[in-house]
Amino acid sequence: MADPRFRADLYDGTAEWYDAYRPPYPPELIDDLVARIGADGTGRLLDIACGTGQVPFAVRGCFAEIWAADQEPGMIAVAAGKAADDAARFRFITGTAEELEAPSGVFDLVTIGNAFHRLRRDVVAANVRRWLRPGGYLALLWGGSPWNGGAPWQQTLQVVMHRWQHRSGADERIPAGYDEARRAHPDHDILAAAGFAIIATFQATVSRAWTADEIAGYLRSTSVLSSAALGHEADDFDADLRNALRSCQRDELYLQDLTFSCELARVPLLGLQRGPIVARSCTSAEGRNDLLHQQVARVLSAGHGST
Ligand SMILES: C[S@@+](CC[C@H](N)C(=O)[O-])C[C@H]1O[C@@H](n2cnc3c(N)ncnc32)[C@H](O)[C@@H]1O
Repeated sequence: MADPRFRADLYDGTAEWYDAYRPPYPPELIDDLVARIGADGTGRLLDIACGTGQVPFAVRGCFAEIWAADQEPGMIAVAAGKAADDAARFRFITGTAEELEAPSGVFDLVTIGNAFHRLRRDVVAANVRRWLRPGGYLALLWGGSPWNGGAPWQQTLQVVMHRWQHRSGADERIPAGYDEARRAHPDHDILAAAGFAIIATFQATVSRAWTADEIAGYLRSTSVLSSAALGHEADDFDADLRNALRSCQRDELYLQDLTFSCELARVPLLGLQRGPIVARSCTSAEGRNDLLHQQVARVLSAGHGST
């Protein structure tokens, strides 16, 4: 079963919201990733579905050359603007991950932040394997959404979001067959079939105190509750959201332990491995034990919403 395609314009008009309101990946997670792959400032990074550059700007000092691609022109415009003072390092490309043209065997790391689930995963995994040098790495980063958790304000938030997604017709922004395809073919199976070894899954949790403005701004950065998705009802949605949040607690700040994670896969070094690799459950020396893997899997399934 092939992954269904999402509409290409789902993030139209979200770039400014995205850049202002998405929390950054925690430095601990980024440092962990950089240490594991041994990035020393000389290599080449490709970030796919880059948004406004959440991943590449976090690691900019660790790579001599950074390519960043996204199909949404607004995202690329904001990201390129932020790189204006470092233009020699960055190359921005507007285009889909599936059709991207990049040279074979030249990248040390390919990153995909909060986006692998939106792609034709088998096509992109095969492309990435080709673009990486032998021994190169693919990192899937995940996490950072305010609604992940069971606090009363988060339960309220989930209810409001579902109500408005349904009311505005945004449910249709998630293509039919999406859940079935991901269940039938988990990410690790897709990566293994493309010839990757899954070598580690790690995470970092940060404490976050959201204001209502920040939660409202975050939701506008999503594909399902963007200004375009809400249309002329955007102001009504904002008012409803703020009333609902106020109704569940008097404090101004909405507290959350926010978990981000990274799944690290590697292309085998030349001569060591041919063909598909059977996925392992993170019991390698670099990996984690099964318990942690299960915990992360739960976090991931909660966090991989189609936002
Ligand atoms: C949730 S955002 C992630 C942005 C950023 N990578 C991050 O870590 O926050 C998803 C991004 O994927 C992009 N995207 C979705 N499908 C894509 C595709 N097929 N090819 C390229 N970009 C895509 C969207 O335009 C959007 O910028």
